[in-house]
Order: sequence, then C-alpha cells, then structure tokens
Amino acid sequence: MAVKAKPDIKKIALLTSGGDAPGMNACIRAIVRTGIYNGKRMVGVMRGYQGLIDGEFKDMDNRSVSNIIHRGGTILKSARCPDFKSDEGMESAYRNLKAERIDALVTVGGDGTFRGANEFSHRYDIPVIGVPGTIDNDMYGTDFTIGYDTALNTVIDAIDKIRDTAHSHDRLFFIEVMGRDAGFIALPTGIATGAESILIPESKTDIDKLVDTLDYGWRRKKSSSIVIVAEGEEEGGAFEIKQQVEEKLKGRYDIRVTILGHIQRGGRPTCNDRVLASRLGVAALEAILAGKSDVMVGVKNGKVTYTPLTKAANSKPAKLNKQLLRISEILSY
Ligand code: ADP
Ligand code: F6P
Repeated sequence: MAVKAKPDIKKIALLTSGGDAPGMNACIRAIVRTGIYNGKRMVGVMRGYQGLIDGEFKDMDNRSVSNIIHRGGTILKSARCPDFKSDEGMESAYRNLKAERIDALVTVGGDGTFRGANEFSHRYDIPVIGVPGTIDNDMYGTDFTIGYDTALNTVIDAIDKIRDTAHSHDRLFFIEVMGRDAGFIALPTGIATGAESILIPESKTDIDKLVDTLDYGWRRKKSSSIVIVAEGEEEGGAFEIKQQVEEKLKGRYDIRVTILGHIQRGGRPTCNDRVLASRLGVAALEAILAGKSDVMVGVKNGKVTYTPLTKAANSKPAKLNKQLLRISEILSY
C-alpha cells in the first residue's frame, strides 16, 4: 500500500550529484515510479546541481525509466558543481525550481551533495530528501550507500586477476583503490583477496613494519604479494608507498603498481545495490508524501531510517571495523 499522498505536493524533482555510483539508475527508477504511482508529476534534473542552475529539466514517466535497473552510471548524468556553493548559484537554482512549480526535491549523492542540499533546504522553502549514493560508503546515518557493494565486487574481480599474474611472475603488487578519505573499500577487499597488507587512512602506516612483513613473506618464499593502498592513505598513493619500500627491500621483489581508478565507479550494479537503491528510492518518495523534509533516508540494521540532513552532511561516518585489520594480519602470515 502506498502512503497517502500530501495534497499540496504535486510535482517532485530528482537529481544525481557528485561521483556517480552503480545503482543510481535503479534508484531513479524507484523514485520516479513511486511518484507516478502516487499521482505525482516527476521531473528529472540533468547534471546534478548544475542542471538546477541551468534549468535543465525533463519530465519523467514510467517508460522513461524502463530498462535501466541493470545499468551503471546515471541517466540523469552527474556533475561536480562549484557554482552551487555561491549565493548566486543557489538563488538561480531556487528560481528555476519555482518557475517549474516544483514542490520538493530528491538528491542522490554523497556527503558533498548533502552539504549542498542541507544549505539549500535551510535557505529556501522546498522540502529536500537525500538518498546516499556513492561507492565510498563514507556516510553517517546508513550502513550502506548505493554503489558500494558493486564497487567492492569490481575491486575483488580486478585484484583476483592481478593475483594470477603476480603469482606467475613471483611479483609484489601495490594496488590503489578509491574511497577518497576512507578505507571502506580497501579493508574488506583486502580481506577478500588475501592481501598481504592493507593501508588505510584510519590507521597509521608504519613503513618499516610493512617492509618487515614483505621481507618475511619473501624469506618464506611467498609466490606473490599484494598490498592494497587506499587512495586517502596518509603516507601517499601506491606509487609513493612503492618508492618508500623499494629501496629497503633491496631488490628482493620484482614490484609493479596498479591504480584501479574509475573502473570502480562503473558496471552493472549487484543484486544488493539494486535492492538497496529500490528500497531507498521508494522510501525517499514516501518520506516526502508523509510530510518529511530535510532528511536522508538510509538503512541501519536492515531497517529504513531517517537522519536529519544537517547531521548526515556534517557527521563522520560510522567507524571502520578495525578487527578486520587484525584478521588480515593473521590470515596473510
Ligand atoms: P559527493 O556528493 O559524491 O560527495 P562532491 O563532494 O563533489 O560529491 O559534492 C557534490 C556537489 O555538491 C558539489 O559539486 C557541489 O555542487 C555541492 N556541494 C558540496 N559541498 C557544498 C557546500 N558546502 N555548499 C553547497 N554545495 C555544496
Ligand atoms: O566519491 C567517489 C569517488 O570515486 C572517490 O572515491 C574518489 O576520490 C573521487 O570520487 C574521484 O572523483 P572524480 O570522479 O572527480 O575523479
């Protein structure tokens, strides 16, 4: 049963913003179809906040979101939009929404997107709902963000392939994964691929200890070694870390570096991401219909939750499970 619609909300806009994430399309589909199901007019905004400023809107119906649930990227496109941080940018976004007679806005994106949404909702009288969509999983108020599960699976698929060649050539690989300032991607993928070491910003890296670990592996004739480096690692990226340890390893390893890069942002969303995106899309729309405003929908312990945008935008994400680092040390010994 759909939630009873608030009569004063007739037209709802949605946008995707910041780094795209697999599952955003499934979320767009869910938002649009829940809106139409409840008799609302739905409008897609192109290129995130840039489209709000430029007035790039398009009407959406059930057919406009057909055949997209399985596709990566976002049919609404995404952008980083510095102009939205200015008074003028926000003001023209608001004017364009009013001119289109839009009554509410749903934003799908990461913490930056919510900082923008939060600022906007404080300034203007349009209800805003946030949906967490980023491969980084670095958000307060939800256990999982849309795209994270797919990115994890893309990463382990790539590292498994690298392990094959590393093993054939007895090589040491430094593999850099995304995650901006967080180790949410590096840590579980490191465990899942049996990495010899996992370097994340949340934990201080001791280069000498890393050298000892690799040296010990070499002495025991490990046929390949993999070190996962989160891109936000304080000692530097994969190339810098490689340089720091290469000399100390005294030629014991033939070393290579791989930066996985934007491959982590694309591809068909996993089942988990499609389901999460569908649940959160429906929840976002139903939140608007129930009169909620300025909240982010999320999932905690399997249940849909609502977190004030101010909190979602400005709080640190839940801590990483550092027990996983200990497990990694034991299992790669
Ligand atoms: P993500 O949402 O993936 O974290 P960004 O950090 O790039 O990605 O944020 C997406 C967009 O949100 C930015 O390009 C900008 O338009 C908007 N934004 C971010 N921070 C603010 C802010 N403090 N005020 C207004 N808009 C912001
Ligand atoms: O926030 C998602 C993310 O992929 C981060 O992991 C990464 O630091 C950043 O976006 C890359 O941004 P861009 O697409 O602008 O290169």
